Amino acid sequence: MTNAIANLSVNGKQVEAKLGERLLEAAERAGISLHCDCGTCVCESSRVTVISGNVEANGTRLKSTVLACKATVAGDAEIMLPASSGLQSLKGHVSALRKVSDDLYELRLSFTKPISWRPGQYYHVEFRGHERINLSASFSLDAGTEFNTLIFLIEEATTPDLFAMLVKKGDVKGRVGITGPYGSSFLGHDDERLIMVAGPNSLAPIWAIALSSVMGQPRREKVLILDRSLEDAKFQQVFNWLKRRGLLPVFADLQSGTAEANLKNLLPDLTEFDMAYVAGSRSFIAGLESVFVDAQATYARIPQFQPWEAAVGANADAVTLEPAE
Ligand code: FES
Repeated sequence: MTNAIANLSVNGKQVEAKLGERLLEAAERAGISLHCDCGTCVCESSRVTVISGNVEANGTRLKSTVLACKATVAGDAEIMLPASSGLQSLKGHVSALRKVSDDLYELRLSFTKPISWRPGQYYHVEFRGHERINLSASFSLDAGTEFNTLIFLIEEATTPDLFAMLVKKGDVKGRVGITGPYGSSFLGHDDERLIMVAGPNSLAPIWAIALSSVMGQPRREKVLILDRSLEDAKFQQVFNWLKRRGLLPVFADLQSGTAEANLKNLLPDLTEFDMAYVAGSRSFIAGLESVFVDAQATYARIPQFQPWEAAVGANADAVTLEPAE
């Protein structure tokens, strides 16, 4: 870092920043909190839009956005943060637990205060005596929801410890703490065609986005592409609900060596005027990324990760695509 000073505008607020300083620190000095979660380029919570000026993306650029936990000030610049909900730390309790299938539970947590989140975001959830986990907020599989309630889909494959606890104590009524919401890849109000892609064990955030867009953006063109592993009877309620409202899920092999080609075939007319959300493991997302980057579509990642993954080889595994603008 040098001592040279640049002028940074963060959501319209002016702040002086040193060249080489991370955008994150500069934004915080401007009094704007970014709700960073991982600090290691995993969670996507610190993605900001560079409106103009000089920013060193350090391998995190996606179209006009960068990760503020890694990108640094390279000159005068104007950046914009997504209009997210404020962070909340709340204590609540398990109000309902429904077994959907042998490997899937629907968990409802209730709170005394209203909960505000956007489809695509996730929470830190901590049960007494258990390690903190990240869970994507979602809707019930029958599309119902309740005031002051958070709904999570608990799958054995992604959260085996929590799943085992729920199976063991079928009537768990314990206290639970949450902090969030995190993540910047949430449903916006744009007019572009909306493309939603979900990988294995990653239906929850895409279901939340699909339901919200069907209800709130009825005229927006939508495409829903799901990995074939999700074509399972336990999700039939979801598919039926969407079909009744005109959104037909398309199932495809998105994991094998032909995944990219399969996705391209399903989106032959992809352009920079499309907005895509892709949910899945980091390797799943990275495997499909070039389809959207090549077409210059606007593209948001919803990574499925647990806190400990950030520490284990985050750098070795980090996706560092930096397409030209
Ligand atoms: S805090 Fe920057 S990606 Fe997680």
